[in-house]
Amino acid sequence: MSRLVVVSNRVAPIKAGKVAAGGLAVGVHDALRQAGGIWFGWSGDVSSSPQTSTETVGNITYVTLGLTKQDYDQYYRGFSNATLWPIFHYRIDLARYNRQEYEGYRRVNAMLAEKLKPHLKPDDIIWIHDYHLIPFAEACRQLGIRNRIGFFLHIPFPPPEILTVIPPHNELLKTLCFYDLIGFQTETDRLAFQDYMTREVRGILESDGSLTAYGQNFRAGVYPIGVVPDEIQELAESYKGRTKPMRRTTDVDRKKIVSVDRLDYSKGLVERFMAYQAFLERYPEHRRAVEFIQIAPTSRSDVKTYQAIRQQLESQAGHINGWLSDLDWTPLHYLNKSHDRRALMGLFRQSDIGFVTPLRDGMNLVAKEFVASQDPEDPGVLVLSRFAGAARELTSALIINPYDCIGMAEALDRAMRMSLTERKDRYEHMMRAIRAADLDAWRDNFLRDLRAFSSRPRAEV
Ligand code: UDP
Ligand code: G6P
Repeated sequence: MSRLVVVSNRVAPIKAGKVAAGGLAVGVHDALRQAGGIWFGWSGDVSSSPQTSTETVGNITYVTLGLTKQDYDQYYRGFSNATLWPIFHYRIDLARYNRQEYEGYRRVNAMLAEKLKPHLKPDDIIWIHDYHLIPFAEACRQLGIRNRIGFFLHIPFPPPEILTVIPPHNELLKTLCFYDLIGFQTETDRLAFQDYMTREVRGILESDGSLTAYGQNFRAGVYPIGVVPDEIQELAESYKGRTKPMRRTTDVDRKKIVSVDRLDYSKGLVERFMAYQAFLERYPEHRRAVEFIQIAPTSRSDVKTYQAIRQQLESQAGHINGWLSDLDWTPLHYLNKSHDRRALMGLFRQSDIGFVTPLRDGMNLVAKEFVASQDPEDPGVLVLSRFAGAARELTSALIINPYDCIGMAEALDRAMRMSLTERKDRYEHMMRAIRAADLDAWRDNFLRDLRAFSSRPRAEV
């Protein structure tokens, strides 16, 4: 079997048993751990003379390199996270465009392809991940690399009306056509992409389901990323430690609402805090009978839009706690520290409600992890935004619209009162969906389709 080479901007070697927060790192790490291979990308360092370094742990060889300050600013902080991220999450209002940043983005993609080349064998299968690396395959083809190359987009793909806000959208999307296979989280994302290719650039949907555009023929498919349910169960059951707020409150047996997100405006945290406040206002009988634990490790904190949302959340959290806290009750625990997986899965199992309310999310692994962590005999309730990719599969969650503050407060009340029978029914239904589309299925289906794509001469770059 040919070797797997994974490329992503964020490479996350396990350090002291910890994987970096973020769905990509968690998903790719689990997939590579099973299959073995190379994981290539940015080391996370910003340095003046970036060197490639290689480290093998178990069956994974990590090949990483630093970025110069200019590359970091233009490629990562600029075009990737201040243009692509907001636009792909439907937030035109938060996006900016700077031509030099875009050029830096293209330059870093070309540089990364060049650095990867000496590590490749002719029959390696190359799997590229996420929005930082859209032009990577084109850069590889320009270097004469002819391996099979697939791309998986972890985030949503926006409708053409939104995508075309990016000034060089045509050039950018043209580079995507150099992949053999492009994977999306949901059918909505795949359709938006197909729409762009067929309507915006007059590409052709072929009778075999493939697409031809810009003189290239390629495939697009749906591969929802999943979790490893048995491993999560095991982690959740075995976690014995307790976070401080929980230890303080177990004796009064309060119900626990839990949320875990990178501190990102796409996660709907502001709306969530507002909904929690509305819930405490409308249903005073639940005050003191509930506490909300929000874990929100900071992310991309040198991007302005992230600084703004952090300030807003601090003010909201201060307001809620100032308004209602008592010496023996704190309604909201707001933690910016990241936590390891065992502690998170343990926390999920000890919680009654998982409150997952993104305004837009590619998948949202936390939603699946919350469910997979539950005690089957006494499961908690998942309250889930309809705008998370996970809502396509977890249809037995309490589905909410994060723009509807009162609707979310009502869902929390309903979750607080839900009978054991209904909780079990919903849990069992969701677990069936989680098992049907687990992490192995995501990896195996994508790689099967990538391998099946007949290798043939490609059009000139
Ligand atoms: N995560 C973690 N520690 C934290 C916060 C999050 O390990 O302190 C993990 C979380 O369990 C999940 C992933 O990071 O596996 C987040 O993935 P998700 O798809 O929910 O969101 P993303 O961060 O990719 O937007
Ligand atoms: C999401 C993105 C990933 C990214 C992660 C963490 O999961 O889809 O590509 O790695 O967030 O963000 P960061 O900017 O720290 O890599």
